[in-house]
Amino acid sequence: MPLLRLLCLSVSLVALAEQPIPYSHKTHLKLGLKCAECHTLPGKGEAAGYPPESKCMACHAQVKRDSAAIGKLAGYFQLKKPVPWQQIYRLPDYVWFSHKRHSKSACETCHGPVAERDVIVKEKAITMVACMACHEDTSAPNECNSCHNP
Ligand code: HEC
Ligand code: HEC
Ligand code: HEC
Ligand code: HEC
Ligand code: HEC
Repeated sequence: MPLLRLLCLSVSLVALAEQPIPYSHKTHLKLGLKCAECHTLPGKGEAAGYPPESKCMACHAQVKRDSAAIGKLAGYFQLKKPVPWQQIYRLPDYVWFSHKRHSKSACETCHGPVAERDVIVKEKAITMVACMACHEDTSAPNECNSCHNP
């Protein structure tokens, strides 16, 4: 039953990628919010990071209070627990990457048209080939130890 198996596999992949709360960039960016309001760049360290729940609750203490998803969000906020977002773009630990060092490149170059997406999927490659091709084009360092620090 190869077709059935394929179906089961794709269903389980979708399940894996599911976020704990169905947050939509499309809905929220239409409200006029800016990336940097939720993803502190540069923030602590080199990562883009996820927003604190207080940022969400600034609106959702009032907006859509009756929604089950907002109830879940409010629960994390009250318990002071961060929402366990699934990271979609993730490099292996042996690669060094810094958003700070890439602040001159648009987010969309590496993540696609986020503002038009309800659900974020990995639509742009973050492979070594993709990194090195852009470094070649922009005369950025391409020595092995630029990205693989001993
Ligand atoms: C500037 C105010 C504002 C902020 C900040 C905000 N939201 Fe929203 N959110 C809204 C509005 C407005 C809607 C759409 C309501 C509608 O459908 O008309 C919405 C809708 C939602 C929904 C859909 C709810 C449903 O059941 O339809 C979810 C889930 C959600 N937001 C999660 C979040 C999360 C998580 C954050 C923080 C990362 C956040 N929001 C930050 C205003 C905000
Ligand atoms: C209201 C807060 C908010 C705003 C504004 C916002 N984001 Fe996000 N972003 C989130 C949350 C919450 C997540 C985690 C859930 C998800 O993946 O959708 C996220 C996830 C992401 C991810 C996936 C990261 C990963 O690998 O897990 C990318 C890429 C991203 N945002 C880029 C952007 C860009 C680019 C903008 C501006 C165009 C933006 N975001 C604006 C809240 C926000
Ligand atoms: C040069 C490519 C590149 C650009 C430009 C870029 N990102 Fe990323 N982003 C990545 C890579 C690679 C990762 C995975 C990082 C890791 O696993 O260490 C990532 C991860 C993320 C994450 C997951 C959480 C984290 O902090 O790692 C978020 C959120 C995110 N990016 C948002 C943004 C936003 C917002 C912008 C624009 C301000 C942006 N990115 C610009 C390549 C990029
Ligand atoms: C859109 C083009 C682009 C992409 C894609 C890109 N980079 Fe870069 N990267 C640059 C530029 C430009 C610089 C130099 C920034 C500067 O000097 O201010 C840089 C700098 C760096 C640095 C600092 C190097 C040093 O020695 O100073 C590292 C590390 C790095 N990138 C890793 C990566 C990794 C890993 C990826 C893939 C996940 C990646 N980059 C994808 C353009 C890119
Ligand atoms: C601009 C950043 C960058 C540079 C420069 C770079 N790498 Fe990588 N490398 C990556 C990223 C990102 C990955 C993980 C993603 C992947 O496997 O494509 C990786 C993965 C690897 C792996 C693991 C591959 C695997 O299949 O498990 C090896 C080995 C490696 N690099 C060696 C090198 C060597 C040797 C050089 C110098 C000739 C080099 N890298 C230069 C970014 C870089």
